[in-house]
Amino acid sequence: MSYGLNDFITGMPKAELHVHIEGCVEPLMLLRLAERNGVDIPYRDEDEVWAAQDYGEPALDNFLKYHENCLRVLQTGQDFYELAYAFFKRSAEENIVYLEIMFETQAHISRGLVFSECFDGLNQARRDGRRDFGIESNWIMSFQRDHSAESSMEILDMAKPFKDEIIGVGLDNYEVNNFALKFVEVFRRAREEGYRLTSHCDCNQQNSIEHIRQCLELLQVERIDHGLHVIDSPELTAMVRESQIPLTMCPTWRPSDPAPRRLESIREMLELGLLVSINTDDPAEFASRYLNNIFIEMHKHGSYTKDEIVRLTRNAFTSAWISEDAKAHYLEKLEKYVAGK
Ligand code: ADE
Ligand code: ZN
Repeated sequence: MSYGLNDFITGMPKAELHVHIEGCVEPLMLLRLAERNGVDIPYRDEDEVWAAQDYGEPALDNFLKYHENCLRVLQTGQDFYELAYAFFKRSAEENIVYLEIMFETQAHISRGLVFSECFDGLNQARRDGRRDFGIESNWIMSFQRDHSAESSMEILDMAKPFKDEIIGVGLDNYEVNNFALKFVEVFRRAREEGYRLTSHCDCNQQNSIEHIRQCLELLQVERIDHGLHVIDSPELTAMVRESQIPLTMCPTWRPSDPAPRRLESIREMLELGLLVSINTDDPAEFASRYLNNIFIEMHKHGSYTKDEIVRLTRNAFTSAWISEDAKAHYLEKLEKYVAGK
């Protein structure tokens, strides 16, 4: 029975909307790029890298400290190309047909890298990924919310020549207090320039409900990355349900977690009628790994049914920043798959 469902999950056409390309640096690639680029990292072999992924609390901060190593080894356009191409290839193996992928900005520019070189590498991989694996995708440019609004404005300038290749902007990294307040002008400009808008509101952060409210009201985001704590406020729950603001949840886990985290809350979100989807966040940096594995473990540990898994997948296509025609096309593909099983 469960073997049958695993096959069903694996073959199902899927979308992923919340994944950071820098979170796709696999341990072996980390070691290889560190050596190639002469970057010192605190791990000698793959075992040590895997061991470093058992982030203690506070989980976001400790994860981001590890993540810093994955950023530092990325030095050239070729590195970005190889990273993204490998991710497209892996995503095709997962039967993912549509991706929205975040890339970080200040994290690279502040190390002296050149925006156009990094982005050219990523975007060449996107073209090659489409040609070689038939995967459609869009880029989301993430500003690091612990950096300044001025640097985000400069990055909007740098991104101008590539505007047509970038669907939206987002905010990630450390969740500093009331971060939305400083990005009001940046997001107003991004909206005027035609970018779609999202922001992380991570799990278990201080002031989370207020952060979500500020992102919705002040930044006018159209989507929230994570957004788990919406359900802690009946008022926010009603607002997010009525406007069908998508919430891109990532039930990631660490090697020593006994089971996937947040499975009960995700079910509650579904039952409340919220437009919640399942995503990997940083698949090379968590024990949860890639999308099929997450769904399989959600079934195993949270008794998620086939119907619930299909609903979550439908939600992902519905939440995507694509035309209504493209949405209808993917949803039809999904329904045909479900009907044929
Ligand atoms: N960078 C990569 N993943 C992130 C997350 N989940 N939250 C904030 N910043 C991140
Ligand atoms: Zn994220």
